[in-house]
Amino acid sequence: MNTLTVQFGNRSYDIIVGAGCLYIVHERIQNESTFMLFDDNIRQYTESITSSASMAFHATEQTKVLPSIETICQSMRSAGIDRSSALIAMGGGVTGDVGGYAAASYMRGIPCIQIPTTLLAMVDASIGGKTGVNMQASDGELIKNMIGAFWQPSLVVADVTTLKTLDERQLRCGVAECIKHALLGHGDLMALLQSNREAILNCDEEVLIELVTQSAAIKKEVVESDERETGSRALLNLGHTFAHAIEPIKELDLYHGEAVAIGLCAATALSEAMGRIDAAKVDCVRELVSSYGLPTSLPIPQSVDMLNERMRSDKKHEGSTTRFIVLGESGGEIAEDVDEQLVALAWASVGGQLG
Ligand code: GLY
Repeated sequence: MNTLTVQFGNRSYDIIVGAGCLYIVHERIQNESTFMLFDDNIRQYTESITSSASMAFHATEQTKVLPSIETICQSMRSAGIDRSSALIAMGGGVTGDVGGYAAASYMRGIPCIQIPTTLLAMVDASIGGKTGVNMQASDGELIKNMIGAFWQPSLVVADVTTLKTLDERQLRCGVAECIKHALLGHGDLMALLQSNREAILNCDEEVLIELVTQSAAIKKEVVESDERETGSRALLNLGHTFAHAIEPIKELDLYHGEAVAIGLCAATALSEAMGRIDAAKVDCVRELVSSYGLPTSLPIPQSVDMLNERMRSDKKHEGSTTRFIVLGESGGEIAEDVDEQLVALAWASVGGQLG
């Protein structure tokens, strides 16, 4: 079992990564009562956790909305949850985001314990305190994560045995975020991913503990240095500017991690076009992505003009639309004023159709 501590002064918290380690939650809980919000797909794991009250949540992007927060808060009130209590959020990223935001809002904030049960949530969503819900725009479009709060958890417990029942497509999606962290971090995680593909996809516990620990350690370092994303935390968006443009296109039928995988290939192609990395690095990323059965290009070609327009009109896009996270020789870099022609070439490298 490994423990990492995210350093935020008196809001510091541990990330515990192990196999069969859910019992730790009870050793660590100091709150009088707990309310567990759990994804209704992972009921089998809830038996390991005793809570004063619990509620199943049907976690989807459509239920990740404000009315769900009110329903959860009503349940907590009925259960007598108060400021001496804690909320336990158990499930994937959606449950973690919704549970975290309910904890941030209820009685102006109660502690939240994150128990991620997907690889993506273990290495990304459960760490760093981003919580929130989607918002329905006046035109009916769902804008992802538009309403939320930074609310650091008081504990994260990642038990890799829960990954054994995870749908393989979801497991691969989690690997996409690990690849992103490997590109931003040090060579050890890259080597682990390159040499343990079978073990990771077969859910070898020891290798998964190492994968989650190393990946979480990179995320921890980034969020410690910029909790509220005023600067370097934006590096975690590597590949995501491209991914956000393609993920909502229904005919592509892409999960988030798959869109990120294509986005990472596009971002590395952009980095090469800008002269920041060489072609060998682009090939290395594509090979790694592909070796995990993740897509390296669009399953159905799309017009580059349309994709660029989607980037420009991304309602959540903050700041300039010519700002991208790219790779340099020593990791992620923020690039301003990126030429749209180079972005078009990056799209073309992943199956975008020019002119
Ligand atoms: N998932 C990106 C971040 O936490 O900033």
